[in-house]
Amino acid sequence: MHTLIPLLSLLPLITAQNLYISHYSGYVAKILLSADPTTGNYTLTKGDTLQTCGGSNRLPAWITLDSSSRTIYCTDENWTGNGSITTISAPTDGKLKELATATTPISGVHNALYGKGFLAVAHYSASLITTWKLPLTNGAKALSTYGPYSLSGPHPNANRQDAAHPHGVHVDPTGNFLVSPDLGNDLVHVFAIDATSGVLSPCSSPNIVAGSGPRHATFKKSQTNRTVMYVGSEMGGTVTAFEVKYASESGAGCPSFNFLQGISSYPKNATAPNASKLAEVHTSGEFLYVANRVDKSFNGNDSLATIALDSTGLMTFKQLTNSYGTYPRTFQINKAGDKVAVGDQTTANLAILERDPKTGLLGSLLATLRIGDAGTPENENGLSAVVWDE
Ligand SMILES: *[C@@H]1O[C@H](CO)[C@@H](O)[C@H](O)[C@H]1NC(C)=O
Ligand SMILES: *[C@@H]1O[C@H](CO)[C@@H](O)[C@H](O)[C@H]1NC(C)=O
Ligand SMILES: *[C@@H]1O[C@H](CO)[C@@H](O)[C@H](O)[C@H]1NC(C)=O
Ligand SMILES: *[C@@H]1O[C@H](CO)[C@@H](O)[C@H](O)[C@H]1NC(C)=O
Ligand SMILES: *[C@@H]1O[C@H](CO)[C@@H](O)[C@H](O)[C@H]1NC(C)=O
Ligand SMILES: *[C@@H]1O[C@H](CO)[C@@H](O)[C@H](O)[C@H]1NC(C)=O
Ligand SMILES: *[C@@H]1O[C@H](CO)[C@@H](O)[C@H](O)[C@H]1NC(C)=O
Repeated sequence: MHTLIPLLSLLPLITAQNLYISHYSGYVAKILLSADPTTGNYTLTKGDTLQTCGGSNRLPAWITLDSSSRTIYCTDENWTGNGSITTISAPTDGKLKELATATTPISGVHNALYGKGFLAVAHYSASLITTWKLPLTNGAKALSTYGPYSLSGPHPNANRQDAAHPHGVHVDPTGNFLVSPDLGNDLVHVFAIDATSGVLSPCSSPNIVAGSGPRHATFKKSQTNRTVMYVGSEMGGTVTAFEVKYASESGAGCPSFNFLQGISSYPKNATAPNASKLAEVHTSGEFLYVANRVDKSFNGNDSLATIALDSTGLMTFKQLTNSYGTYPRTFQINKAGDKVAVGDQTTANLAILERDPKTGLLGSLLATLRIGDAGTPENENGLSAVVWDE
C-alpha cells in the first residue's frame, strides 16, 4: 500500500482536455488543450478534422455533444436553400465519422437534445422549430414541425424583426419543458415535453421587451430553490430573469413565468453600444455570463459580462472582460468552472480564459488558437460553435 504514494506523486499532472468546434466553412474539429507540466502554460492544438454538416456547400452553425453516446449533433444554417442535420461519431480515441444526415428546412441555427432520444432544432429564417427522433437515419424526415410562426404585429426593429425568428432551443432543469426565444416576436415559445413520444405541446409564452430580440436562454435553481429562466436579448443587449412557476411536481400542466428583473450586460446598467449583439448566456455557480458581440469594448476585441446572482436569483453586474477576439458567438464554461472556452467567430479563434470558481471572475487568456479561415464582419463565416468534451 505504502509504495503507491511515491508512485502516484511521480505521475504527471492531468495535462490535456479536449474540445470540439464547428467552423462555418464546413467542418467539425477536435481541439486539444494541453498544459506544459513544467511551466503550466497552456497550448491549443487542432486535431482530427472532418468535413461534415453539409461540408463546404453548407454552413455548420451549431454542435451539441452527447458525451454518453459520444455523438455530435450538427445543424447547418444555410438560408438560401435547405439546411441539414448530421450526426457524427466522436470516439475518445478515434476519428470523427459521419453517422447519418438528413435534409431540413433552412437556417437551423441551434439545437438541443430532449426527452428520451430526440433533438429539437430552431430554424431562424424558416420561422419554425423541427424535432427529430434519434438515432437519426439517413434521409430521415422531421418528427414534427412547430410553426412557421407569424409575426404578432409590427415590432420596433423592422430590419431584424421582419418575421418570427426562433433562435435557440433550451430544456429546463426538470427536463419537462422546452423553450425557444423568438427574436422576431420578442417572446419565448414554451412547450411541454412528452419524453417518450417526443411530442411538444405549446404553453403560453412570456413576452420580452419590445425590440430587444430574445436569442438564447438558460435556467438555474437559486439557493432558495427558485427556478429562474435568464433570457439574453440580441439587439437590446439585455438579460431578463423570470421565475418559473411549475403547475405541479410531476411536470403535468404548463408553467407560468413571473418577470423578476431586466438588466443590461454593461456596467451601471448602461445601454449596450449601438449595433452590438448579445449572443449566448450561461450560468456557472452563482454567476451568469453573457457574450457581447460587436461592442468593441477592448480595443476592437469584444467582451464577456459576469453577473452575480443572489440567493434568490436576482442579478448584479460584476465585470466586463475581454473575449480575446471579435464576435464571440459561442462560449462554454467547463464543469470544474475554472476555464471558459470562447469561440470568437469573425477572428475565428478559440480563446481559453481563466475563471475563478469562487469569485466567478474571469481572468487572463490561457491560450488562443486561430482555427481555419477568419470570417468577415457580419457574415456567416469563421468559427460557429465550441463545446468541452467532458
Ligand atoms: C509561460 O507563460 C508565461 C506568462 O504567461 C511567459 O512569461 C513564459 O515565457 C511562458 N513560458 C514558456 C516556456 O513558454
Ligand atoms: C445553400 O443552399 C443552396 C441551394 O441548395 C446552395 O446553392 C448553396 O450552395 C448552399 N450553401 C450556401 C453556403 O449557401
Ligand atoms: C426544403 O426547403 C423548402 C423551402 O424552405 C421546404 O419547403 C422543404 O420542406 C424543405 N425540405 C425538407 C426536407 O425539409
Ligand atoms: C432546496 O432543496 C433542497 C433539496 O431539494 C433542500 O435540501 C434545501 O434545504 C432547499 N433549500 C431551501 C432554502 O429551501
Ligand atoms: C436597467 O436596464 C434595463 C434594460 O434597459 C431596464 O429595464 C431596467 O429598468 C434598468 N434598471 C434600473 C434599475 O435602472
Ligand atoms: C447605429 O448603428 C446602425 C447600424 O450600424 C447605424 O445605421 C446607425 O446610424 C447607428 N446609430 C447611431 C445613433 O449611431
Ligand atoms: C484581442 O485578442 C487577441 C487574441 O485573439 C489578442 O492577441 C489581442 O492582444 C487582443 N487585443 C486586445 C486589445 O485586447
